[in-house]
Amino acid sequence: MPIHAPADQRWPWWPLLPLYPYGRRATLVRELIPDQVWSFEQLQGVYYVAVPIRMTVLRLNQGLLLYAPVAPTAEVRRALAELERAYGPVQTIVLPSSSGLEHKLPVPAMARAFPEAQLWVTPRQWSFPVPLPLAWLGFPAGRTRVLFEQGLPHTDELSWTALGPLDLGLGTFMEAACLHRSSGCLLVTDALVSIGDQPPAVFELDPTPLLFHARERGDEPLQDSPERRRIGWWRLALFASYLRPASLEVPPAGTVLGQAMAPGLRNARSHFGLYPFRWPQGWEREFEQLRSQQAGGLQIAPVLERLVFPRSRQALLSWVESLAELEGLRWLIAAHYDAPVPCQGDSLRALASALGCRDWAVNAGSWDLLARIDRTLLGLGVVPGDP
Ligand SMILES: [Fe+2]
Repeated sequence: MPIHAPADQRWPWWPLLPLYPYGRRATLVRELIPDQVWSFEQLQGVYYVAVPIRMTVLRLNQGLLLYAPVAPTAEVRRALAELERAYGPVQTIVLPSSSGLEHKLPVPAMARAFPEAQLWVTPRQWSFPVPLPLAWLGFPAGRTRVLFEQGLPHTDELSWTALGPLDLGLGTFMEAACLHRSSGCLLVTDALVSIGDQPPAVFELDPTPLLFHARERGDEPLQDSPERRRIGWWRLALFASYLRPASLEVPPAGTVLGQAMAPGLRNARSHFGLYPFRWPQGWEREFEQLRSQQAGGLQIAPVLERLVFPRSRQALLSWVESLAELEGLRWLIAAHYDAPVPCQGDSLRALASALGCRDWAVNAGSWDLLARIDRTLLGLGVVPGDP
């Protein structure tokens, strides 16, 4: 089936998203498992709340598989061409999430970069505010197949485990985990993460978001040091996890404006000194509490727990328990945060057990804003009480 939407009409709202780093996207390429698995990491976010996003490349018996594509910049295409010369062509591109916009957006461009590759997507892809067919969103209909519904790719080498579909009201959450049996790497997208206490290496390419958030006031210059990078990372991780961390204070507008446009900060990199945040003493405890949710070195991203899984704990637990049964599991590679993380059946069983006992989708403290969003959507009937 031909694609009906011309290239310039696809993703018409793409330029409306103020996504950091505003077109200057650098990629960190790392070999995670020698000759078998590679990570391509970029920064993506809004107003300097930039979080790393990862594509994982698997070596198949013949060729390569791209899991959760990132933007195919010239730098990415060059690195992939190098891998293709060594290991064979990109055969398969997988969109393993039905809801993660940051993973969905780069797929059409990556598909155009590899016109011979087969695309696989999770079922029930959706777009908002207008539901559009995949072809209109830039997916090449003639070579796009739906995971689980139309089969699964490379099952002689890969084991696939679905989480969902879960009804989110506006759309569906679904994630496809993939075990690469020869390396023991389990690839997941958003549901599981390992948040480290040091900034991910991709920030070495551009530490600006870390340095921006390491400050205490808007008129403070962006200064670089390992300690400031760590402070910036802890704050960024809190923003990414809770949207509005409980310890964060917002100074009055007069204070924010009074600190703006200080000498040396009259530039876009410093957002002209506009810094509407204040971190009171002791804010670090909130990051330590975030990390204390880890079990087996892994955790559920809080924003997913409170907005995607608040009433689906059992579905999540069953998925984690089924991943724990996969044979040959050695590493977990998520599309965000640290990777690879040592991971075996016991790590996942420890996580499932911890998730089963603790309070779930709570309303207070760090979770306050997420809980208010969920309760509002629930009250309006936008999200279902029983997904
Ligand atoms: Fe994601």
